[in-house]
Amino acid sequence: MRIAMIGTGYVGLVSGACFADFGHRVCCVDKDARKIDGLNAGVMPIWEPGLEALVKANVERDRLTFTTDLPAAVEGTEAVFIAVGTPTRRGDGHADLTFVFEAVRELAKVMKPGTVVVTKSTVPVGTGDQIEAILKEEGVTGVSVASNPEFLREGAAIADFKHPDRIVVGAQDRHAEDVLKEIYRPLFLNRAPILITGRRTAELTKYAANAFLAVKISFINEIANLCEAVDADVQDVARGIGLDNRIGPKFLHAGPGYGGSCFPKDTLALLKTADNAGVDQRIVRTTVQVNDDRKAEMVDRVARALGGEVKGKRIGVLGLAFKPNTDDMREAPSIPLVHGLLERGATVSAFDPVARNQAEQVLSGVEFAADAYEAANGADALVIVTEWDEFRALDLDRIAASLNGKLLIDLRNVYDRSEAEGAGLTYYGVGRGRPPALQ
Ligand SMILES: NC(=O)c1ccc[n+]([C@@H]2O[C@H](COP(=O)([O-])OP(=O)(O)OC[C@H]3O[C@@H](n4cnc5c(N)ncnc54)[C@H](O)[C@@H]3O)[C@@H](O)[C@H]2O)c1
Repeated sequence: MRIAMIGTGYVGLVSGACFADFGHRVCCVDKDARKIDGLNAGVMPIWEPGLEALVKANVERDRLTFTTDLPAAVEGTEAVFIAVGTPTRRGDGHADLTFVFEAVRELAKVMKPGTVVVTKSTVPVGTGDQIEAILKEEGVTGVSVASNPEFLREGAAIADFKHPDRIVVGAQDRHAEDVLKEIYRPLFLNRAPILITGRRTAELTKYAANAFLAVKISFINEIANLCEAVDADVQDVARGIGLDNRIGPKFLHAGPGYGGSCFPKDTLALLKTADNAGVDQRIVRTTVQVNDDRKAEMVDRVARALGGEVKGKRIGVLGLAFKPNTDDMREAPSIPLVHGLLERGATVSAFDPVARNQAEQVLSGVEFAADAYEAANGADALVIVTEWDEFRALDLDRIAASLNGKLLIDLRNVYDRSEAEGAGLTYYGVGRGRPPALQ
């Protein structure tokens, strides 16, 4: 199949490279010329494990190309995927579809009958209908509009794309369904379940999935608070409930609250969709509130461990990206934490294995360290914010020797208290019994 991918970000680039790897001919388009120039020179715009090798292999086989020229990319394609950003709209919290509609209007000028336009971006229910209306307005006929939401996770994006739990296709006509089935054929040869639904159902499925995962995270975070009050261990509670097949072990890790480019904006957009439809979604609304509060509370948590004040203290921060194995800083819990510490008069020395460049764009006034030990050097407390693998096996004796205050605040429960205490550190985890100050 010949495919155009409009938007060459985390989703578009990974999806485009994987489709090319299936054997399709893919042209990725982006309006960001720097991104495209970089890709044409072999430079990845994002940090994602395995991506560079996958892109290189498919470029070499002439199956994957990059351009800023949308008409040229779309020429002769059977399917055009839209994978542009759908950020939160300023003012009302709904998904901002400006980039999607801009792309559709550009497409309209060059669309040929028989092409399938597929939204891979996360878009609110009814967006497919709006796209159809725009195409009609622009005089385009004979084009199908389908929805194919993407469920990949940054940091494991290629594996997720190639071995998905399911593929969801929302199609209103047989032609769109057939084209998408053909594109994904290599995956269902691998027995990946494909769910064919109406377009609106597919659009909503993506939001329901993200909202449910966000609920799970906020649920365990509230249980963690209870564990701290009643001297129980949330790690064991999570394991005890997660082993139940009806619940499952994933997304039950207590921590500093969810961030990233999806959960925060998608939960807000789902609430807006529900408001517009006159249907309250109390569980999701509360989840958003719980998570916002949690992210804001992390500064207090650090302050409490330091006896109530961070002013004049030096805090080492390990991990800035919103999760490990990515350089994505969007809505990262590190942002309100670091800003809060700085606002209250602390000095922050931070280290992230790959997100420094992205972090420099959103965090000012931070000292960036070259590694974990440098971040700890002379600090009154060390806070683990993102659970990168390299923070799982730190030499705690060396950390303790570098630190001034001997405090380890582990917001990801990477260490055991006994291990940290063995190195002479005072340990604060999340939801792991009563915090030391209250004992
Ligand atoms: N990042 C994730 O983990 C993830 C997972 C699943 C779904 N999604 C969804 O996928 C969509 C894309 O997310 P992302 O993280 O890849 O975004 P991103 O910001 O990394 O990439 C979007 C790209 O689209 C480009 N673009 C915007 N308008 C364009 C136009 N008219 N023509 C060509 N290019 C254009 C931008 O320059 C940018 O490079 C969003 O709707 C998001 O919710 C993201």
